[in-house]
Order: sequence, then C-alpha cells, then structure tokens
Amino acid sequence: MSAYPVPDASGFIKLDAMENPFDLPAPLKAQLAQRLTDVLLNRYPVPSYRAVKEALSAKLGVPEGCPVMLGNGSDELIHLVLQACAKPGAVALAPLPGFVMYEMSARLNGVRFVGVPLAANFSLNLPAMLMAIAEHKPAVIFIAYPNNPTGNLWSDSDIEQIVRAAPGLVVIDEAYHPFAQQSWMNRLAQFDKVLVMRTLSKLGLAGIRLGYMAGSARWIEQFEKVRPPYNVNVLTEAAALFMLEHLEVLDAQAAQLRSERTRLFDALRQMKGVTPHPSAANFILTRVPDAAGWMAGLKARGILIKNVSGMHPLLSGCLRLTVGTPQENDRLIAALTELAKA
Ligand SMILES: Cc1ncc(COP(=O)(O)O)c(C=O)c1O
Repeated sequence: MSAYPVPDASGFIKLDAMENPFDLPAPLKAQLAQRLTDVLLNRYPVPSYRAVKEALSAKLGVPEGCPVMLGNGSDELIHLVLQACAKPGAVALAPLPGFVMYEMSARLNGVRFVGVPLAANFSLNLPAMLMAIAEHKPAVIFIAYPNNPTGNLWSDSDIEQIVRAAPGLVVIDEAYHPFAQQSWMNRLAQFDKVLVMRTLSKLGLAGIRLGYMAGSARWIEQFEKVRPPYNVNVLTEAAALFMLEHLEVLDAQAAQLRSERTRLFDALRQMKGVTPHPSAANFILTRVPDAAGWMAGLKARGILIKNVSGMHPLLSGCLRLTVGTPQENDRLIAALTELAKA
C-alpha cells in the first residue's frame, strides 16, 4: 500500500479534490470568528454532540426517529463501519471504479474487498452486482450516490434490487448530495439495512472535517461502540453549528456550482476529442486523447486537476475536473481549448 497521495497545490488553481471554491462573505467570517472565540478549548467535547446532530437533522432532512452518528469526515465513518463489521471472513463490496477509501479502509480493517466493475457506460452492472452479492455475501455494500470518480447517479430501481439482495448493510454515500439533490434519506424507514452517509466537505466545509451518517437506531447504536468518544473537535462542532444557521449561503454557492457545471460540460462537449460524462456531482469526468499529457499541459498553465486514467481500465484516458469559480472555469476552458487544438 501507499499513503493517500495529496499533491502540493500551492500557487495552482485547485480543481483536483472536489472542494467548494468559494470563500465565505467577510461579515459572516467575522461572526464565525466571534463564535469560535467563545469555544472552551480547555474542555473535551461533550460526546453526545446533541446540538449539532439536532441541527444537521433539522436542516438536512434526516427523518424523524433516525439517529445520527458523526465522523471526522465521512472517511472516518467509512472506517468505523468497516471496523464494526470486521469479523473474520467479512467481505465489503462496492462497484469499481469507485471511491478509493472503501477498499483502503476495508484492507486496513482486515475486511476482504470485492470490487464489481461498472458497465462500459459507467452504469451499474446489475447482474454482476447481484451475482457477486450471492457469491460473497458481503457484510457491507458501499454505493456512492452519485459515484466518484464517474459523477453519475445510479437508477433507484437498481439500488433497490441491490438492497433487497444484500444479506448485510448497504451504505448509500451521498457525499455529493448538494449537487445531486436526490437522496435516499427519506427512504430510510422503508429499508432497515440502509444507512445514509453524508459530509459537509463538498458543501463548502472540507477543512472542518465533519461527516454524518443516519440509519435505524439499532444499527447506529452498534457503530457508536467503535467511535472514539471525542472524534469531532469543539471547533468543528461550533463552526458546523454556525454554518448550519447560515445554510442559505452554502446552498447558494452549491446552486452556482450546479450552473457552472452545466456551462463547463457544454464547453467540454464542443472540444475536439473531448468526451465529458454527465455528472450529478461538482466534478466532471472527461475522456481526452492523452490524459497524462493534458494533465501536464494544465499544470504548466497553473491548473491542478486529477488524472484518474490509471485507477481502473474503464477510466483509460480520463481526467476528473472539479467545477471551480466562474473565473477558474474560464481559465480551465481556455487551457483545455488550447490543448484540444494542439
Ligand atoms: C464518495 C465519497 N465519499 C466520501 C468522501 C470523503 O469525504 P470527507 O471529506 O467527508 O471525508 C469523498 C471524498 O472525496 C467521496 O468522494
């Protein structure tokens, strides 16, 4: 294994990690600073995290009666789910290409990982998924909705069949919910074995590291047993509470990114040799004639994106472009247009 690679982005237009590119308005930052000043850094967090959980539930549509568990980013929640499921012989299953942390966390927890290739058009290969479920009897299945790095949503009826076939848990990872605006959250009551996981990262708070997961009480109680008691720090808690009171600011930024996504997609479609894949997230997977060459060409023009072409055979020639501010996207479009003409 190698440690999770994060390139040095200083001086670049940073379009490699699906962050929200917008800063907060200055008056809001001043209020936030005041709020953080009042936090008692000498005290441990109160491990129930009641206020922030209530605010998350109320503002982000967690159904009545579904408890919420918090993680230091959803990365930690993925890890804790796998840790809780890691009895000898346990299997975790996910479609591939998918979010790399499912496999990495599974391996670190001694859980065997089974990846099921997507169809060539990046839709779920439902027969292959159902066969793999029957063969490997996974303790947990991860479904990213929408998927990273392909950006698409799956058909709800495919997910439903997977849930019905699953002998264990199904985690629907809705990290990109602000951009997809479709969710399984309101279906939690229908399917006891489903957990919905989300994060505040893509909404604009990647730096504070706060993920949350909702599901039926009997499951969340089990995962709480493996959660370190103070895994979310007091500054994160206070910042999240404050931002949930001002959610309209982040919602407006997400709306702008959704419209920039359309603009970027349309521009990519016009470029010779460039094939963007429709996205419900804040990034666009794009096939280009020479992924490594274009990545280097963008870097030379001061833009950092992610070359995912080596991640999986289905991704050959693919770059993942995070949607940036209008000015950043203008720069990206200009640079790609030059590369397409070269
Ligand atoms: C599908 C998916 N889930 C989870 C995460 C992790 O998010 P967090 O910042 O909350 O750890 C990512 C990050 O890229 C992601 O793409």
